[in-house]
Amino acid sequence: MSVVEQISSKQAIELENKYGAHNYHPLPVVLSSGEGVYVWDVESKRYYDFLSAYSAVNQGHCHPKIINALKEQAEELTLTSRAFYNNKLGVYEKYVTEYFGFDKVLPMNTGAEAVETAIKLSRKWGYEKKGIPANEAKIIVCQNNFHGRTVTIISASNDPVATENFGPFTLGIISIPYNDLTALEKALEDKNVAAFLVEPIQGEAGVYVPADDFIEKAYKLCKSNNVLFVADEVQTGVARTGKLLAVNYANIKPDILILGKALSGGVLPVSAVLADDTIMEVIRPGNHGSTFGGNPLACAVAIAALEVVKEERLAENALRLGEIFREGMEQLISKTNLIKSVRGKGLLNAIVINDSEDSSTAWDICVALKDNGLLAKPTHGNIIRFAPPLVMTEEQLYECVEIISKTILNFKK
Ligand SMILES: Cc1ncc(COP(=O)(O)O)c(C=O)c1O
Repeated sequence: MSVVEQISSKQAIELENKYGAHNYHPLPVVLSSGEGVYVWDVESKRYYDFLSAYSAVNQGHCHPKIINALKEQAEELTLTSRAFYNNKLGVYEKYVTEYFGFDKVLPMNTGAEAVETAIKLSRKWGYEKKGIPANEAKIIVCQNNFHGRTVTIISASNDPVATENFGPFTLGIISIPYNDLTALEKALEDKNVAAFLVEPIQGEAGVYVPADDFIEKAYKLCKSNNVLFVADEVQTGVARTGKLLAVNYANIKPDILILGKALSGGVLPVSAVLADDTIMEVIRPGNHGSTFGGNPLACAVAIAALEVVKEERLAENALRLGEIFREGMEQLISKTNLIKSVRGKGLLNAIVINDSEDSSTAWDICVALKDNGLLAKPTHGNIIRFAPPLVMTEEQLYECVEIISKTILNFKK
């Protein structure tokens, strides 16, 4: 078989199983193309994508404007490294900082790298600006967080699957319950705390939305203790929750903002750490970097991806469709006891299945949804996350609510 020959779903799955590390447990569907809210498998069956590559494809699959930017730039220049200047990086830096309202950006590639960068930046600020004694800096995180997969980041995780046999772990992390201001206040009594790292909504954990006042009050507590408020918006950012950023619901500006995923519309790994000069100025040549961070291809793609968000009013669309989606799920809940609840903001939502966390019910429902033409994935046992591309129309959303409702009402354990 030639490597470019068409392969069946069965063959593709066998290849991944045989030659790839088993670090994921994918739903048995093999995708080969995508457009907007749709993806197609190798047998040409069409699906609504309700995962959007974990909220990376907010602008829809293969958005023509973003793909054009990619193609045009790919024919000019793709990578210079930061050893030299290039004619796209500064333009992108100006665009992205003005877009989100910060003085400076530090460009990286994946979400995890951006979180690592934010932790390093916070520590350095802690030593050089706050006066924390050498090697004593601490970062407060929340239980059930998901910030990525590097050793330092999993050192902040309490998920045994993510941490088992990966030690020794990074020191200097204080973990508190999510959405707990009393615990935060107590943890902030430690004068060596440099930063509070938090997801405005915990996505991977199962779309946990904190109390309405949590983010604002947590921010104020950080301010009164001279601690940086670091928002990880890798999943919630770029219009996903119905506002450009999820922290916009709280009307605060984080000291450090971490973005990834949809910053490129899911076309390339592009991530960013944004902060004002008083923080970012602690970073000097040689302190931090990445060969690919800020490459011209990423810059061209990210500008196009962010333009699409504004031009197509994706935040407004997510806000409006999110309400319709949750209303549809509430109606479904009134007809079945298979679902306990629905929660979320904008188009980042989840339903909680009425079964034990270790049951296969959520997985089995996702398989049934796949058979009915809609792709979603369980997260943490009995929770199913629903996060379609934000370019979805109202008509399409109603059709999807119908598919989900019929699938669940016909589902037999
Ligand atoms: C909130 C949050 N932070 C960081 C990450 C890590 O991003 P990446 O997978 O690009 O490393 C994720 C990924 O899901 C995330 O949801």
